[in-house]
Amino acid sequence: MRVDVVDETGTEAAPLLRVRDLSVRVGEVTPVRGVDLDLPPGGRMAVVGESGSGKSLTALAIMGLLKPPLTVEGSIVLDGVELLDLSPRQLAAMRGGSLAMVYQDPMSSLNPVYSIGRQIVECIRLHEDVSRAVARRRAIDLLHEVGIADPERRVDSYPHELSGGMRQRVMIAMALSAEPKLLIADEPTTALDVTTQARIVDLMRRISEDRGTAVVFITHDLAIAARFCDQVAVMYGGRVVEFGEAEPTYDDPRHPYTRALLGSMCRLDGDVNELLPTIPGSPPLPAELPTGCSFRPRCPRAEEVCAEVFPPTVITDPGPRPHGAECHFAQEGMR
Ligand SMILES: Nc1ncnc2c1ncn2[C@@H]1O[C@H](COP(=O)(O)OP(=O)(O)OP(=O)(O)O)[C@@H](O)[C@H]1O
Ligand SMILES: [Mg+2]
Repeated sequence: MRVDVVDETGTEAAPLLRVRDLSVRVGEVTPVRGVDLDLPPGGRMAVVGESGSGKSLTALAIMGLLKPPLTVEGSIVLDGVELLDLSPRQLAAMRGGSLAMVYQDPMSSLNPVYSIGRQIVECIRLHEDVSRAVARRRAIDLLHEVGIADPERRVDSYPHELSGGMRQRVMIAMALSAEPKLLIADEPTTALDVTTQARIVDLMRRISEDRGTAVVFITHDLAIAARFCDQVAVMYGGRVVEFGEAEPTYDDPRHPYTRALLGSMCRLDGDVNELLPTIPGSPPLPAELPTGCSFRPRCPRAEEVCAEVFPPTVITDPGPRPHGAECHFAQEGMR
């Protein structure tokens, strides 16, 4: 899928992140197969899909954190720099600087034996030559920014003394400490209750708007994605099967998988006693992909061609930001 970002004047805008034909292989298996993503500076993109669709591998590939036997092919350009050409040392510098990630499980990323303040201070001093006192002041400001009450006191707390929501906020504060241009958040709210989820998502949105930080927000929850993002990429079986600006994609989804995901969304205005529709069948394993379209075995629209021919990427609306889907019937408008 090759899509160029074009701004209102019709000229090509320089995206902050441009991923082209990204594949992740492990042995004979390719769990990520030719992913393209474009994110402008300050943009917010949700990457949505069921478990195993390749969301985390895509994120970890961008972060340069995949190690053999996993191999990465394609192109990942961040701010004009091809990340796949960088040495491990240069990549580590990127991760401390323009690129940061919030991981799914904050307890595994926070060190239990150090106070959160010390961990944030270390993060700040890793990439900036400032005194401990200055870094501590900045850590307190960051904790305040991410909505931790009484940050002067909390800065000396240990991770186990905080609630799940607070730990997630601390992780966001740590990720922001290097003032990254791109923040990748991998299901940062999955372990939290619904109210805390909404607060964290709103917080990330505010920070992105205030600081101009671009965010890739990985989630399996389209409702969360809708609350946060302006663009969406729907992943299935290691491919981006639908992409576009959030509103048109939600209003007029062109891939049956996106429609199924939307159908399984909990509607706040709906009858709570109504059974939520779920998507029948299960997602494909990377080693057992069907021929043709990988959604075909679960697809209500599937025809013979879907088993025989790999679906083309159909651009259903060219722009300024293209909307498209990888489906033989993407032009139909399925709703
Ligand atoms: N280190 C690995 N070695 C081999 N296969 C892997 C490895 N990591 C992930 N996979 C496989 O690659 C596929 C995609 O995994 P990935 O973790 O990217 O999924 P995901 O979309 O993030 O799912 P989830 O929503 O459950 O986090 C899965 O089938 C997974 O089993
Ligand atoms: Mg994952």
